[in-house]
Amino acid sequence: MKKIVAIGILFALPIVIFNSCNSSSANTMAKEVAEEESYITIDTSKIPNDKFGESVRYGRELMLRTSYYIGPEGINGKYLGNKMNCTNCHQDAGTKPYSFNLMSSHDNYPQYRGREDKVLTLAERVNNCIMRPHSGKPLPLDSDEMVAFLSYFKWISKFVPKDSLFKGSKNFKIEFPDVAASPERGKALYAENCVRCHGNDGQGIFNADKSGYVYPPLWGKYAYQPGSSMHRVIKQAQWLKGNMPFDKVSVGKPYLTDAQALDIAAYVNDDSVHSRTNPKTLDYPDPKAKAIDYAHAPFSDPFTEKQHRLGPFKPIIEYWKKQGWEAIY
Ligand code: HEC
Ligand code: HEC
Repeated sequence: MKKIVAIGILFALPIVIFNSCNSSSANTMAKEVAEEESYITIDTSKIPNDKFGESVRYGRELMLRTSYYIGPEGINGKYLGNKMNCTNCHQDAGTKPYSFNLMSSHDNYPQYRGREDKVLTLAERVNNCIMRPHSGKPLPLDSDEMVAFLSYFKWISKFVPKDSLFKGSKNFKIEFPDVAASPERGKALYAENCVRCHGNDGQGIFNADKSGYVYPPLWGKYAYQPGSSMHRVIKQAQWLKGNMPFDKVSVGKPYLTDAQALDIAAYVNDDSVHSRTNPKTLDYPDPKAKAIDYAHAPFSDPFTEKQHRLGPFKPIIEYWKKQGWEAIY
């Protein structure tokens, strides 16, 4: 037993050093990547014509038409609590740059997750999205569906470099203004930029057979729940910058300013005026592992829930830096 502990200590130091090198080199790489690299695309005609390929194809289908297969009225099982599709957030079935891109996910798991305070497999991470944004119940780990998701993630991971970032692998960064995000300003911006597709009451628009959405919902009973990362104002703003309004952005060419994206995200996620399905879990056993814009108490700093939700974020980041903690957002 003691021997095992000793080995643990021996390894602890190099791992810490490796991690910090890794993240700083990853940051430098992100800067370099932005200019010269071209975007990575996948060629689905290269999916092999064998049993593995079948599973990859089904996994891709599940990303694109999640609700049709495993939604509340799914033809292959009833797992999701709403009719959203994975691709609504992980656009182009997880391959679009700056859109919660999933092409490195197969390489990045198992991974320690602060939220659960344990190491999760990729399958468990998939189930987190099924339980939170989709308000569903977890897929059995040995189900055809889970195996298909994993097969697909493995296959798309072949197109990207191992252990490094690529262009659009992360969402856009947001520069923080000195003022808090404003749901009031966001409401006006929403009317101007979002209502035409997502509707006045954020309900979205169903497709013809109502198996999924043409324009997915942003709040209400059938939208993502407060425990989802999309409910975090910074996280959503980073995503909006790269992806919305759908008809005005093209890959790598944002339409909204950073401040507008924050204001709109503040309005969309303002649950004092919008209803949502209640979260089942808000976890994070260690509040220091919480993202700073995950606005559910308890917090490890003196800032209010409101400031965690809307900012100003710079003072929070400064405070964390002073404590020697890494602010996640
Ligand atoms: C409402 C938006 C939304 C929907 C719908 C959604 N996700 Fe996610 N997903 C997220 C966000 C936000 C993250 C966290 C991304 C980050 O932190 O950069 C995430 C992360 C993930 C990750 C981890 C990626 C990594 O490399 O760490 C996987 C895997 C994933 N989602 C799979 C799925 C699958 C499969 C579905 C459909 C069953 C799905 N998601 C539906 C928003 C969504
Ligand atoms: C022209 C139509 C259109 C406009 C305008 C538009 N969206 Fe979307 N939005 C979409 C579509 C389509 C998707 C799903 C994309 C997919 O499945 O590939 C989507 C997805 C989303 C999602 C993720 C899925 C979900 O339902 O949670 C969010 C959040 C979102 N839009 C917010 C906004 C906001 C905020 C604005 C205004 C700044 C906006 N959208 C403007 C069409 C639009």
